[in-house]
Amino acid sequence: MLILSIETSCDETSAAVTRDGREVLSNSVYTQIAMHAEYGGVVPELASRKHIEKITPVVDSALSTAGVTRADIEAVAVTAAPGLIGALLTGLSFAKGAALSLGVPLVPVHHIKGHIAANYIAFPELTPPFLCTVVSGGHTLFCDVRDYDNVRILGGTRDDAAGEAFDKVARVLGFPYPGGKELDRLARSAPASCPSVKLPRPSFPDAPLDCSFSGLKTAVINLVHSAAQRGEEFDRAVLARSICEAVTDILVSRTKLALAELGYDRAALAGGVAANSFIREAFEKLSESEGVRVFLPPPALCGDNAAMIGCAGYYAWRAGVRGGSSQNAFATMSPEDRF
Ligand code: KG4
Ligand code: ZN
Repeated sequence: MLILSIETSCDETSAAVTRDGREVLSNSVYTQIAMHAEYGGVVPELASRKHIEKITPVVDSALSTAGVTRADIEAVAVTAAPGLIGALLTGLSFAKGAALSLGVPLVPVHHIKGHIAANYIAFPELTPPFLCTVVSGGHTLFCDVRDYDNVRILGGTRDDAAGEAFDKVARVLGFPYPGGKELDRLARSAPASCPSVKLPRPSFPDAPLDCSFSGLKTAVINLVHSAAQRGEEFDRAVLARSICEAVTDILVSRTKLALAELGYDRAALAGGVAANSFIREAFEKLSESEGVRVFLPPPALCGDNAAMIGCAGYYAWRAGVRGGSSQNAFATMSPEDRF
């Protein structure tokens, strides 16, 4: 089953060709980051316009890299929720036109199920059920992946997503948007001998699998501002490391609780923030401390890309999910809901 997939939910214009879900023949990604960095974050209207400009060349590149023609394509999968509505609609409209003109099914895909599916591409032996901790710019979710097309949310952030928190504190430390990756790199240069800065790790006794990152952002802003007011120097690298440690602790503690609740012996990570080196290190340790097998997709598959949508689209197609010409996009939608 050869699928052409399209991802335009935020600031990456991406198209891929996948075979039977897990085999990636091409995965073309055009990132708009440089354009949005000038404004300190994603400007939705600019994102939509750039998707319109780039979608055709990106799809052409995906087809030619895969060495296939339009006539070979058997289905078109597309991210239809959640994301920036204008950005989603550009990809969905293109995909509808492509499916109609090729006479093949259209398969709407949930973006989070796409992030989870990055693990199926990276690990051919992985099959549900397993626990997946999804950490991206817009989401932080602890997911019980019961089956390919059946995801249950066990908990998640009550305010900022982990990636959003990383980007906001990175900005306070002087990094351009999106600063998560740079903050990770800076944190790695902190001398091991320097004690970490104390940062909040809030918990919710009534909902132990929920978490919060907005207090972390406020604590870092207060720290940086009061140091500036007092004319005091602080070690940016040590603060960056402390931030990475706090986010990691929050994610790992919930992941352990979720594993205990589900009784699963497999834990996967997904989403752009899954590229963070501190989080990856801590997850690797889970295999020993919790006796579970840990799945960490390579960083190239963690960020937004269409191959993961093609993979999730294959399993959605197998489960009978189809979109027609009236298929709509949705800015918000739970991965528990089906199209
Ligand atoms: O999944 P993704 O590509 O887009 C969304 O669906 O949101 O995630 C992007 C997020 C950004 O917030 C970015 O700063 C963060 O992933 N990110 C990182 C790292 N690499 C990317 N955050 C922390 N450490 C990293 N190494
Ligand atoms: Zn994403």
